[in-house]
Amino acid sequence: IRFCYIDIEGVSHQVTATAGDTLMSVAKNHLIRGIDGDCGGSCACGTCHVVLTQALQQRLPLHDEAEADLLAFIGYSPAQGHRLGCQITVTPDLEGSVITVGTID
Ligand code: FES
Repeated sequence: IRFCYIDIEGVSHQVTATAGDTLMSVAKNHLIRGIDGDCGGSCACGTCHVVLTQALQQRLPLHDEAEADLLAFIGYSPAQGHRLGCQITVTPDLEGSVITVGTID
């Protein structure tokens, strides 16, 4: 499954991922700048913040409450396409997508 990250400096990176990986782990494996994944994917740090296009957001499963709570804590809302990369599992729906790395204030 191939898709693209725009890193924190605006540089685009094509990546290849396997279904079942998370957007956080794929970014870490490809050394995408701006995705740190400090908590290891347990929805506790926010350092895997990504921004999805509306079209992609609609194709993916909805966030759960814990993800929305942490996003709110770091000042973002899933309604605007903000998500946590560790909570999104790679599926064929991601093929050809563009994932923008989000900031943390
Ligand atoms: Fe910590 Fe996603 S890696 S919240």
